[in-house]
Amino acid sequence: MKFDIVTIFPGMVGAGLAEGVVGRGVERGVLDVRIHDLRDFTSDRHRSVDDVPYGGGPGMVMKPEPLVRAVETIRATRGTPDTVVLTSPQGLPFTQGEAVRLSGLGHIVLLCGRYEGIDERLRSLVPCEELSIGDYVLSGGELAALVIVDAVSRLVPGVVGDSRSVEEDSFSRGLLDHPHYTRPAEVSGQKVPDVLLSGHHEEVRRWRRKMAIQRTLERRPDLLDTVELDDEQRALLDEVRKEGKRES
Ligand code: ADE
Repeated sequence: MKFDIVTIFPGMVGAGLAEGVVGRGVERGVLDVRIHDLRDFTSDRHRSVDDVPYGGGPGMVMKPEPLVRAVETIRATRGTPDTVVLTSPQGLPFTQGEAVRLSGLGHIVLLCGRYEGIDERLRSLVPCEELSIGDYVLSGGELAALVIVDAVSRLVPGVVGDSRSVEEDSFSRGLLDHPHYTRPAEVSGQKVPDVLLSGHHEEVRRWRRKMAIQRTLERRPDLLDTVELDDEQRALLDEVRKEGKRES
């Protein structure tokens, strides 16, 4: 899978991708990630990527031409991408579902937005989808691009060593994850739940499913409005609700 990331901070993006899951994916040849310095696509002596806003006001606006040239160069040298993503707080929410969709593509260009915004004409000059990683404002789209590349890459077969850890992820089934424990079996008087030491695989499986439901109900009940539960999960949800009522 190919990623091309266009940024005014290539060092920041490079550092964020060098290690961990993405770094390993690149080493294994499963991921092909290129970082492009937006200033290489400027045409003036100062290598300007921004200018003052028409109509006045504070801050600067990203110029469209360097971004257009960057995408044209990527198209000519790396092939036509399946999609161009612009990171921006005005974008549609980037969710696990979006990560799954993007992981099915072969080539993604990411444009990291900066400053007060990008000249609106870019959106017609380069058809792109705008994605936001959350309802807060970052000082630039680089961190958002890193989040997107990370979440998408780990879904690409061969990037994460054991594919079961991706399948069993929090959110992979629309619910939060169950609790995890490792050795030792007791820390400062706190014990690992007995069921996990029982060696009884069926009981462990059911306990984990129940804990995932319980956590989701406690922390993110909104997720239960949209997720499709199977028969066992519906029964577990009833059980958890009844136990909650009994305690209160
Ligand atoms: N750029 C600034 N804030 C952002 C956000 N929340 N998501 C994506 N890109 C951004």
